[in-house]
Amino acid sequence: STVRISDDAVARACGADRVSDAFAKLGWTVERVSSWGMHWLEPLAEVNGVGWGPVTPDRVAEIAEGGADDLCIGPVAVHPFIASQQRLTFARAGKTRPLSLDDYANSGGWAGLDRARAIGSEQVLAEMAQSGLRGRGGAGFPAGIKWQTVAKAPGDRKYVVCNADEGDSGTFADRMVMEGDPFALIEGMAICAHAVGAGQGYVYLRSEYPDAIAKMNAAIDLAAERIAPFRMEVRVGAGAYVCGEETSLLNSLEGKRGEVRAKPPLPAIAGLFGQPTVVNNVLTLAAVPHILAEGGAAHYDALGLGRSKGTMPIQIAGNVRHGGLYETAFGVTLRELVYDIGGGTASGRPVKAVQVGGPLGAYLHPDQFDIAFGYEEYAGADALIGHGGIVVFDDSADMAAMARFAMEFCAAESCGKCTPCRIGSVRGMEIIERILAGGRKADAVEVLPQMHNVRDADRSLEDQVALLEDLCETMKFGSLCALGGFTPYPVLSALRHWPEDFGLTKQAVP
Ligand code: NAI
Ligand code: SF4
Repeated sequence: STVRISDDAVARACGADRVSDAFAKLGWTVERVSSWGMHWLEPLAEVNGVGWGPVTPDRVAEIAEGGADDLCIGPVAVHPFIASQQRLTFARAGKTRPLSLDDYANSGGWAGLDRARAIGSEQVLAEMAQSGLRGRGGAGFPAGIKWQTVAKAPGDRKYVVCNADEGDSGTFADRMVMEGDPFALIEGMAICAHAVGAGQGYVYLRSEYPDAIAKMNAAIDLAAERIAPFRMEVRVGAGAYVCGEETSLLNSLEGKRGEVRAKPPLPAIAGLFGQPTVVNNVLTLAAVPHILAEGGAAHYDALGLGRSKGTMPIQIAGNVRHGGLYETAFGVTLRELVYDIGGGTASGRPVKAVQVGGPLGAYLHPDQFDIAFGYEEYAGADALIGHGGIVVFDDSADMAAMARFAMEFCAAESCGKCTPCRIGSVRGMEIIERILAGGRKADAVEVLPQMHNVRDADRSLEDQVALLEDLCETMKFGSLCALGGFTPYPVLSALRHWPEDFGLTKQAVP
């Protein structure tokens, strides 16, 4: 008999290796496959399409005999969490062995690259632009236009760099692609290289992802012939959040300090080693094989809403019952994601807030849960979808503490290049502390008098709030990159929607 168990890092962290050993001891064949992305059910054991989860080693004998009904979820592929998704990037999730070239080819792998080579680079660029695929790292810049810029830019050498420095809180989709379907990323990079005329590709991968590093290295070796003459290498980052920003990532790749570069020049014109470089996120590149394989991009363009085309792998995390990977066309609402799909909070308490888009994303209040998931729709609400991570909080969350944490995070991760971020984040922490202390926190008095006429600690509560808003404005518009520029989102959203957590009344916050 054969059982399928994921070797994804989440499944392994939940005990998938021990469960696999227990099946092997009974003489079963264990196939290690990618994860379906239903994290609350890991380790999930699948026998003839029927799933049991979460499995512990002591339940394995029962499952082997067809018992353990309390853990059985029935046929996995039609489970509501899976059946309601539109999986394009994650079409193979749960179904294939990550490092099997046969599984990859038998499930439509390489069709995109073969077609790209057959139709030529001009046509690939045209179809990418037509697809409307936008950068999935967060900024949402049209991938086809970026590729065209690199293709046209003069340069001796061109590069494709995959940003796999997935650092946002509550995100794991990049990791799941690299651990579960590494050839899809490789194929996407090879198509990109073919389109823009690049000979070398790098995957900049964070050191905190050891399984992904091992899988990508192995997959690149296995696929080397298939993607030749294009060559790829993995480069491991040392764990700075700011190295997910494309120019500091490039500096880090060049062996320099991971400090942000001023733009222009854009990396598309002068990127890695000063050459034209495509820098795209894992999810952007992994979406490419499907777009190309389907022959023209019209059907991708037809999915989604407005200018947010196609599907987004949304990562549901935090205090939620059914966390995991949920890929769907743009337009879904938080109400659906949190309650219908996520099943509400894991604690059973009311939902208080959802942070969307990582540590620099806004906290959304339940009143905003009907906003459609899309770049423009979120921007209109002073929020961002970022890399598609959503983190759920119940009513025990202290939103003032979260606002302070955003400033503290920015201070810790700042590359130090520009003043609004480097100094503003520290001042921001102090102001929030003063607000919390009722505007009378004595130990912060010395810090600011030279910058303001009034001794800041003596300001009224309303003035402290105004000062915080002023500082956020400066950080938003004066920072060189998104780290300092986006920190105001969590801070101001917390202040606006939960003033009571700051000891303020609604009237105190304009
Ligand atoms: P950006 O708006 O400056 O640029 C977006 C991309 O488009 C860049 O690659 C840029 O080089 C390119 N671009 C812009 N104009 C172009 C042109 N005319 N031709 C060719 N390429 C062009 O945004 P940035 O600073 O690169 O990224 C900010 C985003 O990063 C935020 O939206 C945030 O959500 C996201 N982010 C993602 C994280 C993650 O872990 N995935 C972590 C932190 C932030
Ligand atoms: Fe560096 Fe912060 Fe300025 Fe970005 S905003 S360049 S991280 S100091």
